[in-house]
Amino acid sequence: MPQSTQILMPDADGFEVASRILKSGGLVAFPTETVYGLGGDARNDHAVARIFEAKGRPRFNPLIVHVPDVETARNYVEWTDDADRLASAFWPGPLTMVLPLKPGAGLSPLVTADLPTVAIRVPAHPVARELLQTFGGPVAAPSANPSGRISPTEAAHVAAGLSGRIEAILDGGACDVGVESTILGLADGPTLLRPGGLPQEALEEALHQPLTRHGAGDPHTAPGQMTSHYAPGAPVRLNVTDPRPGERLLGFGPVECELNLSYAGDMTEAAANLFHHLHALDAEGEGPIAVSPIPETGLGLAINDRLRRAAAPRET
Ligand code: TXA
Ligand code: MG
Repeated sequence: MPQSTQILMPDADGFEVASRILKSGGLVAFPTETVYGLGGDARNDHAVARIFEAKGRPRFNPLIVHVPDVETARNYVEWTDDADRLASAFWPGPLTMVLPLKPGAGLSPLVTADLPTVAIRVPAHPVARELLQTFGGPVAAPSANPSGRISPTEAAHVAAGLSGRIEAILDGGACDVGVESTILGLADGPTLLRPGGLPQEALEEALHQPLTRHGAGDPHTAPGQMTSHYAPGAPVRLNVTDPRPGERLLGFGPVECELNLSYAGDMTEAAANLFHHLHALDAEGEGPIAVSPIPETGLGLAINDRLRRAAAPRET
């Protein structure tokens, strides 16, 4: 366990140090276009075990493998025509595909929690891409937050949650998309496992078919979709047009409040602000949080999914 966590700048030196840490089985948090990931060598059991430990994440919840390109992805999964179509349309970008694991590919069995499938993605963020190139191997990376808490969209969020538990944080500024990747199951028929930064409508258009969607608790859903997640310290109430005295309003659209996800009602802006504003409200620490209604279209699916989990009864 490291004594202190280094903050690295995304320059030649920073990438070199980060890559050396990954090669020696250490952990480096890095920015992707969605949220910061907590990276470790996906082939190294010890490194992957440390990811679970640093986050306090249950071992049954598998990790996403990050690779620089389609060619590398094909070393680890059984590729399909649908995967090919989607990769051409959306990689690099905020789409994770769950495909059958290629036997003997060399991934640590801890990454997949012993499932016959693996979640894989090619991130678009230039810092993530450079790190993957310099390291030259597959990087297992869940979001870089303690399990159950709000996902990080800035290096400072990672430091607040994981300092002293990981070797380094590559600081690449704020993440553009702001919510995690969309997870699509392709092992038997396209299934939306988690709404995310790539809208469902875009996937349906590329696949020329509507997507089946499974709710939390359904055995078909991503195993990590615990009902309570993304939870700030304070209680959260949703679809509020009339805040109660003492409630702090997280607004959407033209409402007067301290923190607004998007005054203009823009979904892209709201997604980018979501975790940032939740972290800010959490740091302030006072009083229950009320959230304005947000339409259930486009990125609204992912935003509402995260907010419902933030508002869900806490499991501990
Ligand atoms: O945008 C993202 O996806 C970020 C960045 C860092 O890439 N990562 C991320 O990872 O959100 P994490 O661990 O917070 O969420 C990964 C989700 C979990 O719900 C997990 O259960 C699911 O992916 N998952 C991983 N492998 C799976 C598999 N083989 N089958 C179904 N779900 C899987
Ligand atoms: Mg997460």
